[in-house]
Amino acid sequence: MKRDTKTKKKPMETSVKILTGVQEKPYYIQNDFALYQADCLNLLKQLPENSVDMIFADPPYNLSNGGFSVHAGRMVSVNKGDWDKSKGFEDDYDFHFNWLKACQRVLKPNGTLWVSGTYHSIYQCGHALQSLGYHILNDVSWFKPNASPNLSCRFFTASHETLIWARKDKKAKHTFNYDLMKNGNWPEDPLKKPNLQMRSVWSMGTPKPAEKKFGKHPTQKPIDLLKRIVLASTNEGDVVLDPFTGSSTTGIVASVFNRKFIGIDLEEKYLKLSIKRKQEMDKIMDIKNPSPTAKPRLGSEFKIINKIQITQKELF
Ligand SMILES: C[S@@+](CC[C@H](N)C(=O)[O-])C[C@H]1O[C@@H](n2cnc3c(N)ncnc32)[C@H](O)[C@@H]1O
Repeated sequence: MKRDTKTKKKPMETSVKILTGVQEKPYYIQNDFALYQADCLNLLKQLPENSVDMIFADPPYNLSNGGFSVHAGRMVSVNKGDWDKSKGFEDDYDFHFNWLKACQRVLKPNGTLWVSGTYHSIYQCGHALQSLGYHILNDVSWFKPNASPNLSCRFFTASHETLIWARKDKKAKHTFNYDLMKNGNWPEDPLKKPNLQMRSVWSMGTPKPAEKKFGKHPTQKPIDLLKRIVLASTNEGDVVLDPFTGSSTTGIVASVFNRKFIGIDLEEKYLKLSIKRKQEMDKIMDIKNPSPTAKPRLGSEFKIINKIQITQKELF
């Protein structure tokens, strides 16, 4: 039978394409959003070389070693889970080296990688990145104005995290949406002055209570942080991968801005939380965009920023 090629909608290019060789069954897959319950080293091996545009990685910081902190005026353990325990300096370094190497293989030559950390892990990640030949573009300080106080009163209160942004290839031209960063509307950050270049110190609070509506990941990143990262370093249709996806903050933001997403995590409970967040976001996006043509398109990211702020109020 002859197919009516004129009226047949061209299938949207989907991240699923690069997932064809993956043997592991996805834990969840919906259009351009896929989640895997796996060790990221295992999963990354199965993805094609040079296939991913941007990786955001929030690996274990290896700081769950019996310490205490303060939360909402109460003393709480800093232990996040077994996945966050240090296995000793050498083993921790090998872990970071190996996942960064696996990410390097799947990144496109002009692809970039973000890695977050504190002093417990970020220097090891930085050393590994440089040993592997990544080209470092920036180290961003994420200042948290609402950080927990220091209990011992014997040193400064830790109130920032570092994000290293690096390109796979020294010579390739990476994506940086300079104008959007400079001229966009960033009301969450008192350090960002209107129409001036975006600097490498960002001030943003930890996730708002409403971002934890479906439960809380112990090291959940704020939507505002991922919004800036995704919009700065990717374009619509790009493939974004998070090898330590947790509650999939990266995926939620990627999806709202029409990027494809692949998230990987060892723990089922975090993937369940990710799905709840994703489904809620889909519901809101559908209400706001009843027809697919009404979806925000390329070139309208200034509008989308305002849009996600409205959306966030309702969702988070
Ligand atoms: C720091 S958290 C990420 C939190 C996430 N950015 C969010 O906003 O919810 C790190 C996550 O990595 C997962 N993890 C640890 N080792 C892993 C591995 N080898 N492969 C895949 N996931 C791993 C943990 O279960 C944890 O959820």
